Amino acid sequence: MKQIHKGNIITSRSYDELEIIEDGYILVNDGLIEDVFRDYKQEYRGYELIDHGKDLILPAFSDLHMHAPQYPQRGIGMDRLLFDWLNDYTFPQESNYKDPAYARSIYARLVRDFLRHGSFHLSLFTTLHYEACDLLFRMLREAGLYAYTGLVNMDRNSPDYYVDSTEDSLHKTEKFIAEHLGDEKVRPILTPRFAPTCSKKLMEGLGSLAERYGVGVQTHLVESRAEAAWAKELYPEFSSDGEIYEACGLLKGKGPKIFAHVIFPTETEERILREYDGISVHCPDATSNIIAGIMPAAVMHDKGLKIALGSDVGGGHFLGIYRQIARAAQISKMKQFYEGGNVQITLSNAFYMATAAGGSIFDRVGKLEKGYRFNAVVVEDMLEEEYHPSLADALERFCYIGDERNIKERYIDGKPVDPEEVYQRLLQI
Ligand code: GUN
Ligand code: FE
Repeated sequence: MKQIHKGNIITSRSYDELEIIEDGYILVNDGLIEDVFRDYKQEYRGYELIDHGKDLILPAFSDLHMHAPQYPQRGIGMDRLLFDWLNDYTFPQESNYKDPAYARSIYARLVRDFLRHGSFHLSLFTTLHYEACDLLFRMLREAGLYAYTGLVNMDRNSPDYYVDSTEDSLHKTEKFIAEHLGDEKVRPILTPRFAPTCSKKLMEGLGSLAERYGVGVQTHLVESRAEAAWAKELYPEFSSDGEIYEACGLLKGKGPKIFAHVIFPTETEERILREYDGISVHCPDATSNIIAGIMPAAVMHDKGLKIALGSDVGGGHFLGIYRQIARAAQISKMKQFYEGGNVQITLSNAFYMATAAGGSIFDRVGKLEKGYRFNAVVVEDMLEEEYHPSLADALERFCYIGDERNIKERYIDGKPVDPEEVYQRLLQI
C-alpha cells in the first residue's frame, strides 16, 4: 500500500550537511521510501496523504550502546567513577535479573520507552542470565525494533554473586547464538563486558564462536586510563585493548564490531577500527558521569573512522538519543577548551552520528532517502511563532530541550507504532 507523508523533512546529506525539505513529501511503498520530493506530483494523487503540517519528519534514531538491565539505575551513583560505580551500583543491580519476573517488568518498560523516544535501532548489553536475555530478545522482536543483543561475558574480576565460569559463559553464549540466529531484525552479538572481566581462555572461546557463527561483537574499548592500564596488565603480551580482541579472533565474524567510548585510541586501535570496519560509539553523558574522558570524535572522523552515538544508560542518565546529539556538541567545546585543537562537533555532525552512521550497521535505515525503510519520527515544531529562525534551529531546539512528549508520531517499516499498545503486548510475553 502506498502512502504519502507531508511535512518538514530533515535528514543527513552528509556528516557536515543536513538535507532540509520544507513542506516536502515522502512516498512510502510497503515500508520503503520510494520517492522524496519538494513539489506535489499529480501522478501520485491517488495515494493517501498524511499531512503532518509544520511538524518535523526525522529519521528514527540509533542507540548503539546501552545496557538494558541498568535502566532502573539511571541518575543514581553518578558521583562515582567507573570501577566504584560498577562495584557499588551496577553489579548488584544487574544480578537482579536472575529473577525472570524482575526482568519482564523492567524490560517491558524499557522497550516501550525506546519506542516513546524514537530509538528504533539498538545495540544492547544485557546480563549473565539466559532467560532474561531471551525475554529481551523476544520483546524487541514483538516491538518491531531493529537490534543487536547478547549475553554478557564475565569470568573474572567480578563479584562472587555475579560471575560465570569460563565454560558456563561459553556454553550459554553459544546456546543463545544458535537459538537466536536467523531473525532479520533482531540479531545475536558477542558481548564480552570488557577485557578486565574476561580471561584469555574466554576471549579465545568467543573468538571461535565469532568464526563459527559469523556474529559480530560489542564491547567497551579503551574507555578510561585506569581501564586501559588494567587491560594491559592482565594481557601483557598485547600492546593495547583492541589487539586483545583481534588476536583472540573476536573480529572474525561478518556482524558489526561495535566499540563503546574509545577515549584513548592508539595507532593500533585506529588500524583495527579501519581494517575491521569497526564503529566507535560516543556516549557524551556517560563520559561526563563515570568515565571522565572525551572521545576524540572529530579527529577520528577526520581519519575516516565511523562514529555513532550511544546513551550508555545507566552510565548515561537519559534514554533519548536526541539529547546525546546536543551533548556531543556541548562537550566537544569543553574538549577544545582544555586540550586545544579544532575538535568541535556541530549539530549536523552529531545528528549524522545518531541517524545515518548508527543506522549503517542495520539494513537500509537512518536516512529519509529513496530505498531506505520509512523508520521515522514526527516531532512537533517547538519554536515560537514570534521567533522562528529556521528548521535546522527547530531540530536543534528539540535535541536540547525536547523529550518524548514532543514526538507525536512514530513509524517503523512504514507502519504507525503506539508505544502504549505495544507495552500491553510485551507484558504478555
Ligand atoms: N565497562 C565495563 N562495564 C561497563 C558498564 O556497565 N558501563 C560502562 N559505561 N562501562 C563499562
Ligand atoms: Fe557501557
